[in-house]
Amino acid sequence: MTVDGTLSGQTAVVVGGSSGIGFASARALLSAGAAVTIVGRSDERLTKAAGSLGSGVATASVDCADESAAATFFEGVQNLDHLVISLAGGAALGPFTEVPVQGVRETFDGKFWPYLIAMHHGAKRLSDTGTMTLVTGASAIAAVPSASSLGAVNGALEGVIKTLAVELAPRRVNAVSPGLTDTEAWSRIPDEIREGMYAQSAADTPVGRIGQPEDVANAVLACIQNGFLTGLVLPCDGGKRLV
Ligand SMILES: NC(=O)c1ccc[n+]([C@@H]2O[C@H](COP(=O)([O-])OP(=O)(O)OC[C@H]3O[C@@H](n4cnc5c(N)ncnc54)[C@H](OP(=O)(O)O)[C@@H]3O)[C@@H](O)[C@H]2O)c1
Repeated sequence: MTVDGTLSGQTAVVVGGSSGIGFASARALLSAGAAVTIVGRSDERLTKAAGSLGSGVATASVDCADESAAATFFEGVQNLDHLVISLAGGAALGPFTEVPVQGVRETFDGKFWPYLIAMHHGAKRLSDTGTMTLVTGASAIAAVPSASSLGAVNGALEGVIKTLAVELAPRRVNAVSPGLTDTEAWSRIPDEIREGMYAQSAADTPVGRIGQPEDVANAVLACIQNGFLTGLVLPCDGGKRLV
């Protein structure tokens, strides 16, 4: 990164870059001048996302739950400057005593392990001035009813940040912790329920709205561009954790 924060001539990999927060992060990185590779499982989604992002973007179809596939992908990445991980693998939601323990295990399988695999193999490719930024989630630091499984996963990921920031230094490692954000992840629930949930959350949030993917992407870019930020978990939740 240059002193003015421009990323021109630098490379970035965005895991989960075909949708939602990852897609918006890829767009922000491209705007800052980086060459970006977006990673996801579905070729169709990757091709569609790359078409919207325009030139300067490459795609890689990799399931980061598959360690050998992820290792092979990262071994082929030359000069990795910035790694952003923003994949969503589904979660067992519901009151704690009603979610089977197996559901919590599956939530770890869907997010924790793919993140850890991408972090492990991606870290080995990071340049000396490189950065790693994880998208975690407010459930790690605030009470989010029915999201205890995700709270456990996000808390586990955030627990790694400080140690990695020291072990990998001078490379920088941060997390951005979003509150409710309007992404394709929520398109799987019926419109009426989703709209009600959005309206209730907006009413309960100090800034009076829920997040947009661009809000979180701007926080990701801030972690990348500010060369003095490391070991940080940056809340990006409109103040919801405060009330
Ligand atoms: N949206 C929110 O309200 C919110 C709030 C707090 C935290 N977060 C966190 O933010 C992150 C991104 O969420 P989002 O809402 O942007 O989700 P999203 O729109 O559903 O995007 C998820 C992305 O991850 C990719 N992906 C999923 N599993 C993968 C795997 N095993 N390997 C590689 N790519 C994989 C998906 O593509 P394929 O399906 O094609 O693989 C897609 O590109 C998640 O970790 C989520 O927990 C979201």
